[in-house]
This record gives sequence, structure tokens and C-alpha cells, in this order.
Amino acid sequence: MNKELNPFVTVGYASEKYFCDREQELNILERCMKNEVNVTLISNRRLGKSALIYRLFERLEHENFICIYTDIYASQNLKDFTEALALTIFKRFPEKKGFGKRFLDVLKGFRPVITYNVLSSEPEIHFEFTRSEECEHTLRSIFLFLDSQQVKVVLAIDEFQQVLNYPETNTEALLRTIIQTLKNSQFIFSGSKKHLMLEMFNTADRPFFSSTQMLGLQEIPEMKYKQFIHEKFEERNRTIDDEAVDFVLSWTLSHTFYTQVICNNMFARPEKNITQDVAKQVCSEQLSLQQVTYMQYRSLLAPVQWRLLIAIAKEGQVSEIQAQTFLHKYKVGGASSAKKALDALLEKEMICTIETPEKTFFRVYNVFLLRWLDATF
Ligand SMILES: Nc1ncnc2c1ncn2[C@@H]1O[C@H](COP(=O)(O)OP(=O)(O)O)[C@@H](O)[C@H]1O
Ligand SMILES: [Mg+2]
Repeated sequence: MNKELNPFVTVGYASEKYFCDREQELNILERCMKNEVNVTLISNRRLGKSALIYRLFERLEHENFICIYTDIYASQNLKDFTEALALTIFKRFPEKKGFGKRFLDVLKGFRPVITYNVLSSEPEIHFEFTRSEECEHTLRSIFLFLDSQQVKVVLAIDEFQQVLNYPETNTEALLRTIIQTLKNSQFIFSGSKKHLMLEMFNTADRPFFSSTQMLGLQEIPEMKYKQFIHEKFEERNRTIDDEAVDFVLSWTLSHTFYTQVICNNMFARPEKNITQDVAKQVCSEQLSLQQVTYMQYRSLLAPVQWRLLIAIAKEGQVSEIQAQTFLHKYKVGGASSAKKALDALLEKEMICTIETPEKTFFRVYNVFLLRWLDATF
């Protein structure tokens, strides 16, 4: 028998059926890709950038676009970038003929070392460059090869802000120059470090300045998510009470990943109908499971950072970190040490920013940690 997936996916992307909304964003992305406009996609982690790109690719591939997705989070330099790009294309088109064969022929010109991981059997590609010109030349050739195919190409480069860490300080300029020469290729640059991404794309003297359409991803609208959750239960002849859904969306702040995890767990319960009581139980179980990890954080953070983290969790979100009433209420310490602690927590991604037209708020990044801190202290 065909065993059906839990309809609430918590890793990667499954298919349209398990994907909630994002119609507006998909339309914008599709329009940009078809009209030679590159896009910068920005949001906090785990809101759904990668899944959105995969969903877009599914649409575009129906129209014969070649779609390539590279995550460069782990790359440390331009050579890593080039290898990641080559590997993605190699894995995506393994065929012995057509596009895959043509790409392999091009690749061979750069004498790659292709190995297979003993444990995972996954291929790995390494280049043995000694000079940076060789690396730049290879990268340019890969892009030109893609561009010379008789079809439109879309390349998504995820966690793009990583290029700022490369020792090759000309990477932005190099990429921008190559990209400008391409005729059939569109790009999506996505990233979760908002201030770094904005710095690259919105600063006047930077190579990518004003070269893309900005797209900031927000939470899925509550009405859309509610409908999706009800639907997924009903499709399997089960139900979930309205109050249960409301409770969950408010508890997870409608943040996609945390909502998916809680819904996945609710779906795994034996009850045919999910009540608010069951929903609360599932949320609290989730916190118990994470407790061992969260307790560790206390020893990893300086005392003032820990106190500030708890204070921000208890407030939900805070805009004036240095306000006396706030610092006093939670015994955080002085204003300047609070500011330093805040910067450290932002750097460690324990805290994120939420921008509204009026103000910027600070919030505990991980929603489960936020709920745990609030409940425990
Ligand atoms: N529109 C959506 N509908 C259902 N699940 C989604 C949706 N977008 C993202 N997810 C799920 O949420 C999780 C986080 O999404 P992801 O795309 O990895 O976020 P990001 O790339 O922004 O860090 C993934 O497990 C993914 O399956
Ligand atoms: Mg991602």
C-alpha cells in the first residue's frame, strides 16, 4: 500500500499539495524570471525562502526552463563557490546525453577530480587550481555554458551573503560583471542575514546596487494558513477545531517552520479530531523535547546575554533595549552592557529583528526557545 506522507512537511519541499499559499510571491518571482529581472529574496531563517524557490522551479520547469539551486552557506572562498555550482549542475543533470553530457565535457576541460563519498555515495567535485585567475575562468565558463543553452536558465544562489566572507574581496564585482554579460540567465539571490543582504544590494557604491527586484518574505497570512491546516486534516477524514488552529498560529507566531513542526505532531496524534487541549499538549511536549538543548545555552552565553535573552522572551518583542524601565524590570544591567549583549545575541542569531513601518523590534529568533524561556523563567 502506498503510505501517505504526513501532510505537514518539516524538511525541504515535497510538492505543491503540501505547500501553503505564497501565490503572490510566486507570481512576482515568475514574472521577474520571465522578464529578465533578477530578484533578491530576503527573510529571517525558516520562513520559507528555499521552499518557495523549489515551488517556483516546479512551475518554471513545466515551461522548459533549466532551474538550478545552489546553497553556498558552507563555502569559504571563490573556489568553494565554483565547486558548489559545478556540483549542483552535475548532480542535477547526471544524464549521459544531452545537457548533462555537454556540461560534463565542459567540466572536463578544467580537470575536475570527481569522487564519491564512501558513506553516502554522493559525488564530490574538486578543482586543483593554484591561481585565482584559473578559478575565475572556470566560473565564467560555467556561467557562459549555461547561458549558451537554447533555453532560459534560472539560477538561485541561496545564503548569498556568504560571499562577503570570502578572502577574494572582488567577488561581488566579479559575479556582477559575469552576470551582466549573460543573455538567457536570470538570478535569484536569497539570504537570511538581512542587514548584509541589504548592504550588498542597497548601498550605492556596491557592484550589485539597485540591480535586482527586492522581495522580502513575511509570515504566511493567518487566514491562508488556517485554511491550509483545516484542509490537510479534512483530506484525511480528520478534523481540527478552530480554536486549536488559532492557538497554534498564535503560539508559533505563524512562523512557517515552527507551525509545520507543531502541525506535523498534531497530525501524528491518534485523535480523529484535534482540540485546543491536544494542541496545547503537543506544544508543551515539543518544549520538553528541546529542554536539554536549551539548558545548554545558559552555559554558552555570558550572564548579561542570558538575562537579556530571557527579558526579550518575556516581553515577546522589544524595540527600546536601552530603556531604563525595561532594563530595570528584568535586572539586565546597564544600558551600554545591554547594547553589547544585544549585538552579541544578534551575531549569534539568538535574536532577530522584525521590521515594521514604525519601528524595528528585537525578538528571540527561535520561536520554541522563546516559548520555553517565557514558560521557564
Ligand atoms: N509555503 C509553505 N507551506 C508549507 N511548508 C512550508 C512552506 N514554506 C516553507 N515550508 C516549510 O518550512 C520549513 C522552513 O522553510 P525553508 O524554505 O527551509 O526556509 P528558509 O529557506 O527561509 O530558511 C521547511 O521545512 C519547509 O518545508
Ligand atoms: Mg533556506
